[in-house]
Amino acid sequence: MLKPSKMLVFGATSAIAYETIKLFAKDGTSFYLCSRKEDELKRLADDLIVRGAKEVRFATFNALDVNSVTEAVNDCLIKFPDLDGLFIAHGFLPDQKVCETSIDSMRQVIDINFTSAATILTIVANYFEKRGTGTIIAVSSPGGDRGRQSNYVYGSAKGALTVFLSGLRQRLSRAGVSVITIKPGFVDTPMTVDFKKGILFVGPEVIARGIYKAVLKGKSEVYLPAYWRFIMMIIKHVPEMIFKKIKL
Ligand SMILES: NC(=O)c1ccc[n+]([C@@H]2O[C@H](COP(=O)([O-])OP(=O)(O)OC[C@H]3O[C@@H](n4cnc5c(N)ncnc54)[C@H](OP(=O)(O)O)[C@@H]3O)[C@@H](O)[C@H]2O)c1
Repeated sequence: MLKPSKMLVFGATSAIAYETIKLFAKDGTSFYLCSRKEDELKRLADDLIVRGAKEVRFATFNALDVNSVTEAVNDCLIKFPDLDGLFIAHGFLPDQKVCETSIDSMRQVIDINFTSAATILTIVANYFEKRGTGTIIAVSSPGGDRGRQSNYVYGSAKGALTVFLSGLRQRLSRAGVSVITIKPGFVDTPMTVDFKKGILFVGPEVIARGIYKAVLKGKSEVYLPAYWRFIMMIIKHVPEMIFKKIKL
């Protein structure tokens, strides 16, 4: 599997994304970074150049503003007409209780985690399909494998993303475009800052190494660390009769 030489990154400021693109920077990859924070993007761009990136451009976007999403993608395709990599890492883990009573909050979670990603994927997938090449990496979550009372709003958005990626992978496989779904378990990042850290927590650099390897090996769907595949297999197979009685 060829490593992307020019990569569009949404959620570039995320701890998981940044640890990952640092690995690709060493290979001389060029980047088009997107996030809401211009100052932070500038700082990351300078750092990536020092680490070996060939060229780094950046743009701001807000996942809740579809125009800013499409503008960033289209500008990237003008600046990098030979784009061959897409990495979607932005996401928002909400307070589930707030989403149970606020329709606005519930919809925002779906828009940030799913609708914006599906928008980006639709444009870039068509572009890669025409060119007959490209690697798409998107960060979903094991939380999308089964709805749980503690986070089913976030989980359903990630579940929709997983299904979208699965269909896209099947569609694009004949066109020479690979689609990789990443499902990290508990990762110690700003997103989980308020969580009590147990033994299942790993650092973002562990996930980054797993993503880098998944690209090199041309994987389709990876749980990171790999033991999450077994944890989720058990959770998915608990009969509904029992599942509805346990608090997960
Ligand atoms: N941490 C975990 O345990 C875990 C587990 C499974 C999956 N994930 C997924 O992994 C991905 C990376 O998360 P992380 O753990 O690295 O968290 P993080 O460091 O908190 O990063 C979150 C990212 O999402 C972006 N973002 C949030 N709301 C946005 C919005 N409205 N518009 C645009 N960007 C927005 C942030 O960008 P700004 O710079 O604009 O704030 C930031 O880049 C996410 O998709 C997350 O759902 C994380």
